[in-house]
Amino acid sequence: MSIASIIRERRSIHEFNDKPVDRSLVLRLLNDAVWAPNHGLREPWRFIYAEGEGKSKLVNGLMTILDKTKLKDATDEQKQKFLNHLNNVPAYLIVVMPEDPRPAIWEEDLEAVSCLIQNLQLLGWEEGIGMLWHTGDYIYNKKFRELAGVNPGEKIVGVLRLGYFDEAPKARQRTSAEELFTVLN
Ligand SMILES: Cc1cc2nc3c(=O)[nH]c(=O)nc-3n(C[C@H](O)[C@H](O)[C@H](O)COP(=O)(O)O)c2cc1C
Repeated sequence: MSIASIIRERRSIHEFNDKPVDRSLVLRLLNDAVWAPNHGLREPWRFIYAEGEGKSKLVNGLMTILDKTKLKDATDEQKQKFLNHLNNVPAYLIVVMPEDPRPAIWEEDLEAVSCLIQNLQLLGWEEGIGMLWHTGDYIYNKKFRELAGVNPGEKIVGVLRLGYFDEAPKARQRTSAEELFTVLN
């Protein structure tokens, strides 16, 4: 597969199958993904991986938070469905960066981590592993951060859901670059 076709064919995956993800494969993918560009070679990232018991604790903690926020008006049945959905995710990878007080450095670091995450998504896709880069108010929640082992002064850039899948969603068209292209004469 060419890089172009992997970029075009990768989709965010919401529904995963039961095939377990090998942690050593995730580490191998990460060891390639860390070749992302990053200014000053600061390598502004750290990874927190949750599977098995750790995943259950994370999901249960997240549900407690969502119970009071996003799911506060949900029925018990809806909450149970959502809990099952979160538990069906084979593994979670939380990607964090240090929050440098200098805005320019902070921005560069966020940009570098975003490059790393996209590298990882593409590398995963090549291996048949789908991902969903997830964010939301909960990534700023003190309890969630503590539960995930995120240190003060670190920012969660993404909570990646990852696993094998049976079907990829249909692509939604992108705007052609020609439409967004200005040439300065
Ligand atoms: C920074 C970032 C945050 C995202 N957060 C979410 C999210 O919280 N929930 C979600 O369903 N998708 C999230 N996504 C995935 C996008 O919704 C998805 O990439 C977009 O719909 C295009 O679909 P595709 O990835 O299949 O091409 C996020 C993507 C990025 C880059």
